[in-house]
Amino acid sequence: MPQRSPALPSSVVAPTTSAVCPPPPDAPTPLLGGLTPAQFMRRYWQKKPLLVRQAIPGLAAPLSRDELFELAASDDAQARLITRFRGKWQLEHGPFDAEELPSTKRREWTLLVQGVDLYHERARALLDRFRFAPDARLDDLMISYATDGGGVGPHFDSYDVFLLQVHGKRRWRISAQKDLTLKDGLPLKVLQHFEPQDEWVLEPGDMLYLPPHIAHDGEAIGECMTCSIGFRSPSARELIGEFLYHLAERGMASRRVRDDERYRDPNQEAVTRPAQLPETFVEQVGAILAGIRWSDEDVASFLGSYLSEPKPHVVFDPPERAASVNTFARQAARAGVRLDTKTALLYGKRSYFINGEEHRLPPRKKWLTELADHRRLEGKRFVTLSADSSMTALLHEWYLAGWVRIGALA
Ligand code: SIN
Ligand code: CO
Repeated sequence: MPQRSPALPSSVVAPTTSAVCPPPPDAPTPLLGGLTPAQFMRRYWQKKPLLVRQAIPGLAAPLSRDELFELAASDDAQARLITRFRGKWQLEHGPFDAEELPSTKRREWTLLVQGVDLYHERARALLDRFRFAPDARLDDLMISYATDGGGVGPHFDSYDVFLLQVHGKRRWRISAQKDLTLKDGLPLKVLQHFEPQDEWVLEPGDMLYLPPHIAHDGEAIGECMTCSIGFRSPSARELIGEFLYHLAERGMASRRVRDDERYRDPNQEAVTRPAQLPETFVEQVGAILAGIRWSDEDVASFLGSYLSEPKPHVVFDPPERAASVNTFARQAARAGVRLDTKTALLYGKRSYFINGEEHRLPPRKKWLTELADHRRLEGKRFVTLSADSSMTALLHEWYLAGWVRIGALA
């Protein structure tokens, strides 16, 4: 009989103590089992799994079960329900009202909610602990809730993932097997043959890091909750498609296209097979396409815009009673400013990217890079940096758009 963990109280949430953000690369941390982030990146990142006992001692779930169910009921969240009742895998997509979910007393189901960091400051704060890896790689924080025996089956991901146990126990079994063939005819990706090589039971605060393509299976031992901190690695296919779209949208910035340039066929002869694609058409278009050129700057412009683009369902909430620029400056000087949980702010050599928009970095850019790296500016820092009045004006604009908030934490 599996050992049952105590029932999940609906009100237990993590303390809002946030760690230093971004974490210093050369300081050993319990989060990585006593390694420094620099050592972890060199030895494990994209290379091999790492089990860390008590990565965050005393950690409680960033959301209570009720808060997670509430999020799963809203249009904002991307929720999936996976059941394995009577041995049959089933998958449904949310939103789910609480009464649509199976009873928490029933075994073998799991609810997965993506992008929790966008909606809860505590989840965002948890994600911030992992900012020793670039934001450009970060995807989101997913929380799964499962009843005894629940899970998503043995599978692999193309992502790097930190699986952090936040309530109850989960048995993880992993394998570096080469055979990643999936079972046919199932609504979710389940491996045909799973040959576990290692097995551990994780308790609250324990964490397992997995690089892409390590087969894994997590089964709840009693009611449990797991946070997945996922880092995306876009595929070459996705990058090529999106980059070409970006170039086309920007009028192919790097290829000098004359306004009147188009396909011409003054030598076209009369045809007897009108449905046949003319060879010359193919050749001429090939020559036009072969002239497309791009620079590293175009690639950076694409990546920054693409990676900071909010997911399609994301909507920003402007302040209900918006402060004027002067009131904003006064309040920010006292309480500081922070990026909204949904805001992505990246920067490159020449540009910065905020929520999918690209702009040139201002000549005095310190405030902007500092805000991007820390996601907040303390009141005192705001005052020091606001000697540059363009900063206050721009931050006020972002505040009006709901991209920036006043205060250190809600
Ligand atoms: C889960 O939390 O149940 C699934 C996470 C994963 O295996 O990627
Ligand atoms: Co997985």
